[in-house]
Amino acid sequence: MVLETQRLILREMTLQDNDDLLEVFSDPEVMQFYPRSFDRPMTQRWIERNIQRYAQHGFGLWAIVLKSGKLIGDCGLVMQQVDDLEAVEIGYHIRRDLWGQGLATEAAQACRDYGFNQLGFDQLISLINPANAASRRVAEKNSMRLIKETAWREQPTCVYAVERSPRQTKRA
Ligand SMILES: CC(C)(COP(=O)(O)OP(=O)(O)OC[C@H]1O[C@@H](n2cnc3c(N)ncnc32)[C@H](O)[C@@H]1OP(=O)(O)O)[C@@H](O)C(=O)NCCC(=O)NCCS
Repeated sequence: MVLETQRLILREMTLQDNDDLLEVFSDPEVMQFYPRSFDRPMTQRWIERNIQRYAQHGFGLWAIVLKSGKLIGDCGLVMQQVDDLEAVEIGYHIRRDLWGQGLATEAAQACRDYGFNQLGFDQLISLINPANAASRRVAEKNSMRLIKETAWREQPTCVYAVERSPRQTKRA
């Protein structure tokens, strides 16, 4: 387990999570701002990429599991290159039937605090399609502000960011 919040556990994803993650990523509404929704092999590659990230950086997108036991999405930290900036992004995806209950916000705030307090990052960002109003709102509730709009992976993209406050010191 990486993180615990009031309702959620965030833990590293494994290849055994393919069925549950496929439920999230095969939904065209969840994937409306991505080139396409995922099939089973694409979901497996998504998991493998995150397993590589855990090994390379010590973080990645983690599985979000309700304390009742069900895996409902992912949220975590990912290295990204945006224009000339290398930055750590907070990303999130939640199963559609559970939207609007504050779950993405709860997970994203925990990842923000982990990134600042445990990993010692000075700034965290989120990269969001301008039309993705729900995701922009989650970024705002995660204390982020819009710092610029740019083209990222050839798509118009809002760059949201939050800085570590002086009181959030890195723990050794
Ligand atoms: C973005 C996403 C993770 C949000 O998950 P969630 O658990 O529903 O998020 P929360 O409940 O914590 O917060 C959502 C907020 O967006 C608001 N919202 C939802 N749809 C909205 C819309 N169309 N316009 C404006 N606000 C909207 C909600 O009202 C809520 O804000 P509030 O608490 O002030 O009322 C979810 O919609 C999702 O998985 N989307 C598809 C994947 C995706 O786009 N991920 C982000 C990639 S950058």
